[in-house]
Amino acid sequence: MIVVERREDAERMLAREIADLVRASGRVVLGIATGRTPAGVYRELARLRKEEEVDFRRVEAFLLDEYLDLATGDARSFLAWTRERVLDPLGIPAAQARCPENGEEYERAIRDAGGLDLQILGIGRNGHVAFNEPGSRRDSRTRVVELHPWTREDASETFGGIDRVPRRAITMGIETILEAKRLRVLAFGAAKAQVVAQAFERPIGPEVPATFVREHPDLEVWLDREAASELFRTSPG
Ligand code: GLP
Repeated sequence: MIVVERREDAERMLAREIADLVRASGRVVLGIATGRTPAGVYRELARLRKEEEVDFRRVEAFLLDEYLDLATGDARSFLAWTRERVLDPLGIPAAQARCPENGEEYERAIRDAGGLDLQILGIGRNGHVAFNEPGSRRDSRTRVVELHPWTREDASETFGGIDRVPRRAITMGIETILEAKRLRVLAFGAAKAQVVAQAFERPIGPEVPATFVREHPDLEVWLDREAASELFRTSPG
């Protein structure tokens, strides 16, 4: 676990790791997280593309999750988000990005690609990872899920009201995520302090799905000071 002074420090170091992988092997299978948390990593990768001419054209991208019941091409879909903030700025051809539509097919596509080389992961306020809401099992795989009220609340601004936020989504499972060769978890800001403490201090289990990341053999966790502020505070007495 690495606690940095400013989130930009974490973004720069993770982007450097990804760029080094891409430089070394060209064809990298990257698990893409969306949301406020990882956005700076993609910005930093775009900078490395420009300034150091890192060539991302052979990267294959697999999205962690996607809303259901949206029209194809909806600007609020994670695929649209990924096009705008990842594929276009990095020059990854759209045909090399996949987003989950059918669980079994998605699992097969990841396997056929040789597995995920590196998965970027954020944590939701309720302890979810991707859309694996509380109650998600260790052996879960890509599947359709019902979104938790907090998750829908957090998305309500984007959708212009909680009633307009989709109720269902499709997500990689915990097992799918744990099978990535490298797992890189990010959390920034005071709003994540409590869930970070739960993720790393509570017993591992489905109540807080983020606890499962601790079972990954090649895990790195990047936090800023605010997100780390509730960690390892032993209660008095
Ligand atoms: C979303 C996504 C997750 C993301 C999380 C946190 O609902 N499905 O993949 O990690 O919630 O989002 P943010 O990074 O914006 O706080």
